Amino acid sequence: MNAGAPGSGGDGGARPDAGRARREYALHAAGYDRSAARTMPLRRRTIERLRLGPGDAVLDVACGTGLSFPMLRQAVGASGRVHGVELSPEMAALARARVAGHGWRNATLDVGDMASSPLPGPFDAVLFHFTHDVLRTPGALDHIFGACRPGARVAVAGSKLLPWWLAPLNVWVRRNNAPYMTTFDGLEAPWRPLERFVPRLARESALWGAAYVGWGRYER
Ligand SMILES: C[S@@+](CC[C@H](N)C(=O)[O-])C[C@H]1O[C@@H](n2cnc3c(N)ncnc32)[C@H](O)[C@@H]1O
Repeated sequence: MNAGAPGSGGDGGARPDAGRARREYALHAAGYDRSAARTMPLRRRTIERLRLGPGDAVLDVACGTGLSFPMLRQAVGASGRVHGVELSPEMAALARARVAGHGWRNATLDVGDMASSPLPGPFDAVLFHFTHDVLRTPGALDHIFGACRPGARVAVAGSKLLPWWLAPLNVWVRRNNAPYMTTFDGLEAPWRPLERFVPRLARESALWGAAYVGWGRYER
């Protein structure tokens, strides 16, 4: 994700601020797809880790403008289903337009908070693509995995801080990510909260260490 969009950004506060995220994404929505264009290969790589097949039900956590929907929809086919939840009404409106434009009947979307939005499970797979605030939102992961089948496949990608020997470059990482998350808390190992649900989360580095991809299965 590029810097350049307005926003006060993460401030190191421990908890995400949903109100601020809503306000900031109201400003980002129109330019969001352009800002995310250069991370499309990472999105594809992350979705491939879900090993989706025809008939699967997949949850797209904090789906934004629905940029992942075409790849998810293609993988699950007409017999599967894709469900997204998105906090920002402006981002969600673009996702709805995408669904309507393609005439997909098996892609659904709710505007709401991942910690409380009703989830039409059970899901076979869950995608967390650049969802740092959700990973840090109390109760969100319990809610999400409460709607997943045991053994559900999970894939996650997002930004992370560089290791200590590259620490000076983290000024750039923080500035780049500030418009897109309301807390930097846990950004040195952002996948950690997921390990409670996916204890054998595999992981690899991406974007020269400024991002990560993780995958595994939900074990309850
Ligand atoms: C960086 S964007 C990523 C969007 C999408 N996953 C993608 O890959 O393009 C982060 C999204 O998380 C949403 N978000 C933040 N907190 C949320 C919450 N508690 N529940 C649902 N969505 C949330 C924001 O509104 C924003 O659309």
